[in-house]
This record gives sequence, structure tokens and C-alpha cells, in this order.
Amino acid sequence: MATKKAEAPKGKLGVLVVGLGAVSSTFMAGVLAARKGLAKPIGSMTQYDKIRVGEGEDKKYLHYKDIVPLAELDDIVFGAWDVYPANAFESAVNAEVLKAKDILPIKEELEAIKPMKAAFDKNYAKRLDGDNVKECKDRWDMTEQIREDIRNFKKETGVDRVVVLWAASTEVYVPVDEKVHGSLEALEAAMKADDKEHIAPSMCYAYAALSEGAPFIMGAPNTTVDIPAMWELAEKTKMPIAGKDFKTGQTLVKSGFAPIIGTRCLGLSGWFSTNILGNRDGLVLDEPANFRTKEVSKLSTLESILVPEDQPDLYGHGNDEDTQYYHKVRINYYPPRNDNKEGWDNIDIFGWMGYPMQIKINFLCRDSILAAPLCLDLVLLSDLAQRAGRYGIQRFLSFFLKSPMHDYTENEVPVNHLFQQYVMLKNAIREMGGYEADETID
Ligand SMILES: NC(=O)c1ccc[n+]([C@@H]2O[C@H](COP(=O)([O-])OP(=O)(O)OC[C@H]3O[C@@H](n4cnc5c(N)ncnc54)[C@H](O)[C@@H]3O)[C@@H](O)[C@H]2O)c1
Repeated sequence: MATKKAEAPKGKLGVLVVGLGAVSSTFMAGVLAARKGLAKPIGSMTQYDKIRVGEGEDKKYLHYKDIVPLAELDDIVFGAWDVYPANAFESAVNAEVLKAKDILPIKEELEAIKPMKAAFDKNYAKRLDGDNVKECKDRWDMTEQIREDIRNFKKETGVDRVVVLWAASTEVYVPVDEKVHGSLEALEAAMKADDKEHIAPSMCYAYAALSEGAPFIMGAPNTTVDIPAMWELAEKTKMPIAGKDFKTGQTLVKSGFAPIIGTRCLGLSGWFSTNILGNRDGLVLDEPANFRTKEVSKLSTLESILVPEDQPDLYGHGNDEDTQYYHKVRINYYPPRNDNKEGWDNIDIFGWMGYPMQIKINFLCRDSILAAPLCLDLVLLSDLAQRAGRYGIQRFLSFFLKSPMHDYTENEVPVNHLFQQYVMLKNAIREMGGYEADETID
């Protein structure tokens, strides 16, 4: 795909979020508060990071907005869908992420964000029991209704463009089935045949967004956009897609820390990651079928950074088959902690002559506080990509995602290494700003 300079935005940017829970309400509250000068959007690359452009005497370090034409926070108009009818204010209060002093000054704006009825199927998230749900004849009808919601939102708000972001619960694991997910034609036929087993509601949202000319971002570990059918649709509609699973706490640390082990040629015999989490996300993930989706996403991070086939002496030992280090990830639902997740990593490494050592990392994080800036960055950069004529899988957004999209049918290996991902991000920004991509270290 030819790279071109991004066109300047015209008018407002609609941000339609699937799921109005802890992450979404924290994201929205932060943007609205920042707009009023009441809070700072800390952790957001698009608001803070500076990238070098030019070399030698011409080199300058600029904020993204001075390189590319990003939409302004003031231009964002929010909308949402949720299974529960709570508006964004009620949801922020229920989530208990933010303090009253941070929510009350933006109460009116948050109350105005009322969720549209969700495209939902209880078999995909058994622990949820809301009644703000669409009546759908079949999966095709579900998709058509979401498309209508997007069109109505555009009409009612007068926004120029829309980005759709999935920040809803993790669905049960849907393995890729070539017969259904392998082509757009097969996917559409399955939707029309109401194939509930292979067509998750999230696929209906993605299909609707792309068909309505909106980039789609998958913030959960759902396999929604990891299928050739969806790539075909993104190519056909010339829309960007990004996914999957916000890289927030433990996996951010992992993708930043694993390169230390790899770069210094230390050995790894095992990496055990566990978490305690007490919010609704934790409740949904307590269901084994939903946790499976998360587990697959979280496990993928190390595979392309510490590769046993490349370094059998260093990474080729540890599990039962003695072919690879042992990598295990657990999430335990523990209500007292609510959104304040605690992650522990125990890393068993070995050094000179095989002598073992251990590293322990204890991250006491706040899930939604880490996810909110990623929502903002993913939304603004997907909108930018669309204006730069980029479509299909947006690899430069891998930096923000636990399990980056890649074309596995072509044996493509995803880039999980945090600092390689950062180079990809910086170069995409440079190119969309009309500068040359480069590999200079700075
Ligand atoms: N916070 C993090 O650090 C982080 C990191 C990576 C991924 N995620 C993912 O982000 C998602 C949101 O997390 P959260 O903490 O806000 O969860 P949450 O439970 O507070 O909110 C999710 C909301 O989605 C709604 N929902 C579920 N299915 C829906 C559907 N089909 N249509 C519309 N709404 C639907 C639920 O009713 C709920 O209100 C989860 O999938 C989580 O795994 C979060």
C-alpha cells in the first residue's frame, strides 16, 4: 500500500465505543476533563510523546500533532453501546475507578452518553445479565441494526467521521474456522444462516463499522478481526483495522522486560505470571471459556521475542517436552481489589554455565487508568491512518496491543518486542507526516 501524507481532518470525530464499562467510562471522563483543563491525559503518546524528524542539522523533536494532522480532543463526540442501560456517569460511579471529585465536574457531559442497545448473545459472556439488548432475527440482522445505529449517530451528531472501538467484555474463545472465517463470502453466508457458534457479536460490530466507513479497533482479546474474512472486508472498504487486546500492565512489562533477557543472551527456563483482579472484567474472565481467549492472547507475547528455535541453548528447556521454557498466565477474580489489579511475575532465568537466578516483578497497577490512554491513542491514530489512505491491518499500532494482528496465512510473525514496535510506530507517524522513515537510534 502506497504511503501518503495524511489529509487534515474536517469537522468532528465520532468515537463509538462498544461497552460502557470501567475502561470506556474512564477513557471518556479523562478526555472530557482534559478538555476543560481539569486533568492531564498522562500516558497518552499522541498527547505527550515527541519523535525526531529529519537528520543532522535538520533534526527536530516534535509532538505527534506537529508532525501529523491529528484530531483534537475538542473534536471528539462520544457514543456507546452496552448490555446495561447505565449512562457514562453512572458507569463511572459504578466502576469506582475515579474519585467523585474527578467525575462530578463533568457529570452533565457523561450523563448525556447513553448506551444504545447492545448486539449481544449471552452464550458469549454468561456472567452478564443486562436487558439493554437488541432483538435480532439472525446475525445478519444484528449487523444491519448496528449499521443503522452508526448512520443514526452520524446524522444526530453531525460528526464527519466515526471510529469504532471495542472496549466491551472478553467473549468466549472462537477458534478460527477456515470454512467460515476464511473469506468474506463465507462469513456473510454464515451471518445470513445465523451461525451463532462461529459468528460472535463482536464480528457483527466489526463488519458494521468497516461497512459504514469506520476504522475498527479490538481492545479485548477476541479473535474478531484475526480472520481473513475481516481483512478482506477492510481491503474492500479501504478501512484500517487494529487489534488485539490493550497492552496495559503485565504484558507491557513483559514485552519491555523480555528483550533484556534476550539481548544479553541469558537463558529462560520459566515465566509464571499471575494476577488478582476484582472488576467486572475479572468476573467475566473467571469463566474458563472467556479466560481461554485472554490466555491465548497473553501467552503469545513471549513467543516472538525469546524464540526457542533460534536459541535452543537459551530458550529450549523448561516444560514437559523439554522443548521450550515454561510460560504460564493466570488471572484470579478477587473482588476486594476491584479495578486495582495486582500482577506478579516470577521469572526463572539462568546464566553463565547454566546457574539459575530469579527475577520477581510485582506491579500494583490500575487497569482502566492504564487502558484509557491507549483507547485515546488507538482512536486518534486509526482516524489518522484512514485519512492517510492506510487500510487493512495496522501493524504500526502493535505497540499498544498484547497480541498484534498479523497475516498468519503468509506465516508472518507478529512483532511483540516493545522497542521494535516503537520504531514501527515512529516511522508510520513520520511517513504520514511526509517525512522519510528511518532507523537512526535516538
Ligand atoms: N483494563 C485493562 O487493562 C485491559 C487490558 C486489556 C484488555 N482489556 C479489555 O477491555 C475490555 C473492557 O474492560 P473493562 O474493565 O472496561 O470491563 P467492564 O466489564 O467494566 O466493561 C465491559 C462492558 O462491556 C459490556 N458488554 C459486553 N458485551 C457487550 C456487547 N456485545 N455489546 C455491548 N456491550 C457489551 C458489558 O456490559 C460491560 O459494561 C475487556 O474485554 C478487557 O478484557 C482491558
